Amino acid sequence: MTIAHIKALLDDSPAWIINEVTLQEAFHTVQRLQASSGCKILYSIKSMPFSSVLLSAKPYVTGFSVSSLFEARLARECASPSQEIHLTTPGIKAHELAELAELCTHINFNSLTHHALYAKQLENKVSIGVRVNPKLSFLQDERYNPCRSFSKLGVDIEQLWQSSAIEQVSGLHFHTVFAAENYSPLLTTIDKLTHTFHDHLTRLTWLNLGGGYLLNKISQHTPFIDCVHGLQKNYALSVYSEPGNALVKQSGTLIATVIDLFNSDGKIIVVLDTSINHLPEVFEYQQSPQLFEHDPTGNYRALVVGCTCLAGDIFGEYRFTTPLCIGDKLSFINVGAYSLVKANRFNGYNFPSIFRYNGQHLERLKQYSYQDYRQQWFADS
Ligand SMILES: Cc1ncc(COP(=O)(O)O)c(C=O)c1O
Repeated sequence: MTIAHIKALLDDSPAWIINEVTLQEAFHTVQRLQASSGCKILYSIKSMPFSSVLLSAKPYVTGFSVSSLFEARLARECASPSQEIHLTTPGIKAHELAELAELCTHINFNSLTHHALYAKQLENKVSIGVRVNPKLSFLQDERYNPCRSFSKLGVDIEQLWQSSAIEQVSGLHFHTVFAAENYSPLLTTIDKLTHTFHDHLTRLTWLNLGGGYLLNKISQHTPFIDCVHGLQKNYALSVYSEPGNALVKQSGTLIATVIDLFNSDGKIIVVLDTSINHLPEVFEYQQSPQLFEHDPTGNYRALVVGCTCLAGDIFGEYRFTTPLCIGDKLSFINVGAYSLVKANRFNGYNFPSIFRYNGQHLERLKQYSYQDYRQQWFADS
């Protein structure tokens, strides 16, 4: 119903829709979790750094989690002065440190090398932490697994325990999962942390549990709440969590128009005015995005593809109730995270316009033009 309503209102294609109603539902879930556990929630803006999303999140979160100087600048522009900004990245550069210290309230070093190089310069300016790698693999796909062998993410937990850095930091950060639908990885990780660091945890001020949990898909939050209460009670820690996906995934829809249809080796090919470059994880991870119009019992099968020159620019094979026609609109749903932020204009195809839908009205927030494309590709001078 909602998608049909949006399609009827839409006068632009391809179009990126931020469903504000769905977004608010996700923020309310997080707000309830924040209230019942005392865990402080940061929105991890890497998943969708669009300003309207940050401004919508602002009243519900303690702050924002960022990965770079540019994300820190953007978050600081959208946050209130009292809101916290936590940086965690392997990419800290010496010449950015002074500005990062102005923008951020917390900085987590990814390695003991960076801690040794930069911590002194940040003393008394920000709260300093280290990303710890607990060496617990919860993911089959190594591309997502921060705890894979030879990982570049975080300090090996045993190395950290043996180092003097553990005496010097105010907090620890870890992030070990992706799209988890239960809290068992979290409980296992906390178990390992408490067994390794014991009462030393009482000498820290905070612990950041990272992101990676699909909070709105988890029906039983008691394990999380009990875990956070335990950390607060036993070690007097302030506990943070920094979800991205869980907050924005379901609010994002990409709507595109069928611009061509033909038969190739016996299959119907449906060409859209968008491409996998607007949903790059489709190609990166060879996943088919969910299509609203797909009917598993439909009699009409078609290969839905993008309009670029790449042979593998294919969204997937879907089934439809009735045959498609040129001009029909198709909607990829639940694509709000890690999509638009990775999108590009390969072959010169423009970015989708961005709209906000509030349940009744559709408002265009951003439209890109040839001038934006030209600015990217014309040399300065
Ligand atoms: C350090 C860190 N924190 C938070 C997140 C957000 O994770 P998610 O969007 O899966 O909740 C990520 C995602 O890669 C991350 O690397």
